Amino acid sequence: MIPVRGTFITFEGPDGSGKTTQVRVLAQWLRERGVQPVLLRQPGGTPLGERIRSILLDSRSDLELGPVAPMAELALMFADRAQSIQQVVLPALERGEIVLCDRYTDSSEAYQGAGRSLGSERVLALHQALCGDLQPDLTILLLPDVEQALERARRRNERFRRQHGGKDENRFEVEGDAFFRRVHAAYAAIAAREPQRVVTISGNGSIETIAHSIREIVQARIAAFVPA
Ligand code: ADP
Ligand code: TYD
Repeated sequence: MIPVRGTFITFEGPDGSGKTTQVRVLAQWLRERGVQPVLLRQPGGTPLGERIRSILLDSRSDLELGPVAPMAELALMFADRAQSIQQVVLPALERGEIVLCDRYTDSSEAYQGAGRSLGSERVLALHQALCGDLQPDLTILLLPDVEQALERARRRNERFRRQHGGKDENRFEVEGDAFFRRVHAAYAAIAAREPQRVVTISGNGSIETIAHSIREIVQARIAAFVPA
C-alpha cells in the first residue's frame, strides 16, 4: 500500500442511523473552517459503483436477475470498494485531503459477515486482498435502537421510491428483525475489537447533539487539519 498523508474517516451504523445526515453536517462545518473534504458513499461514489449500487439496493433485483447469491453480493460490495479506493480515496489521501466515507468494510462485516452469516473471516480476507488492507484513521459508529433506525430508513426509502418511479433502495431494509439484530451486534463487536479506530455514538439524540459529539471527536483526533 502506498504511504498516505490525508485523513480517512468512515461513518458506520445500521440503516437509518443518521450517517448521511451527519456526513453532510460535518462536511459543512469543515468547509466553514476552510477545509474541503472529499465525500463518498459505498456502495456508489464512482460511475461503476453507482451501477453496482442500483443492482444491490433495488428490491426488484432478486426478481429480475434471480436471487442474488450472498457471495455474489459480498463480491459486488468489494468490487465497488476496490474501484472507489483506486479512483477516489487514494488520490485524495495522496493530495493530503480529508475523505468522509458513508460506509466501508465494517458494513460488509456487519451485513454480509453477520447479517447474511458469511462470517467475519471471509470479509476481512477480502479486505486484505482487494483493499490493500486500507484502514480508516477514524470510524464514527452511530448505533441508535434497532427499531428507531429501521423506522427512519423505511420512511426515507418510501419517499425515494415515490420520487424515482417505483425504483427503490429497499433491498436490505425488507430483511427481518433477526437480520438487523445480527448487524447491530456485529457493529458492537467491531467497536469492542478496535477501540482505537472506532468511536461509538448512541445515535438516539437529536441531529445537533450527535453532530456536536462528532465535531469534538474529529477535533481531538485531527487537530492538525481543523483550526479551532
Ligand atoms: P442513514 O444514512 O444512516 O441511513 P440518514 O441520515 O439518511 O441515515 O437518516 C435517515 C432519516 O432519519 C432521514 O430522514 C433523516 O432526516 C432522519 N434523521 C437522521 N438523524 C436523525 C436524528 N438524530 N433524529 C431524528 N431523525 C434523524
Ligand atoms: P445506504 O444508502 O448507505 O444505507 P442507509 O440506509 O444506511 O443510508 O445503503 C447501503 C445499503 O447497503 C445498506 O442497507 C447496507 C448495505 N451494505 C451492505 O450490505 N454491505 C456493504 O458492504 C455496504 C457498503 C452496504
